[in-house]
Amino acid sequence: MPKTVLITGANGGLGKECARQLALQEGVEKIYLGCRNPKKAAAAKQSLEESTGKSIFEILIIDVSSPTSVRSAVDSLSEPIEALVMNAGGIGGKNFRKITGDGVSQIFAVNVLGHAVLAEVLLQAKKLTNVGIYAGSEAARGVAKMGIKRPKLETASEVEFSAICDGSFFGNAGDPMLPYSYIKYMAALWMSALARKYPDVRLVTVSPGSTSGTDIGENLGPAMKFMFTIVGPKLLPMFGLMHDLEAGAKRYVDVLTDASYKSGVFYGSKKPLLTGPLIDQSTIFADLKNESFQDNASAVIERFIK
Ligand SMILES: NC(=O)c1ccc[n+]([C@@H]2O[C@H](COP(=O)([O-])OP(=O)(O)OC[C@H]3O[C@@H](n4cnc5c(N)ncnc54)[C@H](OP(=O)(O)O)[C@@H]3O)[C@@H](O)[C@H]2O)c1
Repeated sequence: MPKTVLITGANGGLGKECARQLALQEGVEKIYLGCRNPKKAAAAKQSLEESTGKSIFEILIIDVSSPTSVRSAVDSLSEPIEALVMNAGGIGGKNFRKITGDGVSQIFAVNVLGHAVLAEVLLQAKKLTNVGIYAGSEAARGVAKMGIKRPKLETASEVEFSAICDGSFFGNAGDPMLPYSYIKYMAALWMSALARKYPDVRLVTVSPGSTSGTDIGENLGPAMKFMFTIVGPKLLPMFGLMHDLEAGAKRYVDVLTDASYKSGVFYGSKKPLLTGPLIDQSTIFADLKNESFQDNASAVIERFIK
């Protein structure tokens, strides 16, 4: 069991529930709540202390859409961490297509860019010693039952991955689920490349599965929002297409604490479900284990973070 853990996006949804579950595990001594909003962070810390009866939470202010914020958060860490949960993310708000100062779309920055800086800086400095997980999504291999198409690249070249980062790949598409699925695909490829680069740390992508009780649906289009927040929690669990917050966050905890989940693999649900046991997603979408695709995705991300 890791003694020290940093969770990004820890003030709500899956990140906060993961913090709660970890705090109740034997041996966990400190949990850094990585949050961008100090007020929300303080409220989450208080509520976690009350719900767990533990005083092991420390706030780390970090905005994962900003490499500068990520670097200063790492500088302020007084000790190495044993486990990292790269959970912050989602649709990137109403302006998900806006280009940031780093030349990427907001939705890419929130899901990947800051986490790439965070993982790389921690690993290079040997400040992450045991395990790092990234919150993937089954959208990365397509979810036919939800109308989410599998990402389709012509060449999986650096040029194509660059176009995913800056959003030009998607033209004027107004539905954030389109870039979201490609970005989570690219993130899983990047994590696999990172795992080969740092073989001493277990680096795993895991989808929490389709999870109710979070805010991820808030910025979706009206149809998806209705499905995610109103209809979904009532109907989808009957078909194995949604589970509750506890089950979603438990997937993070399982992968963090069980070394049989292998470095470099992306774990998610069996097809066609979005809940239940975790399986290697490359058995559904073989491109996920293509090392040249992984290297191209990683090279492009590295260019944007330099
Ligand atoms: N829920 C699902 O069904 C599902 C399925 C597959 C994958 N996921 C993934 O699971 C992760 C967590 O999602 P969720 O459902 O728990 O969503 P959520 O309820 O919207 O929580 C997202 C968390 O990320 C934080 N965050 C967003 N942008 C940030 C930034 N720039 N810097 C720091 N923190 C930031 C949010 O903080 P604020 O309160 O400050 O916004 C919030 O704490 C995401 O990566 C998502 O893509 C979710």
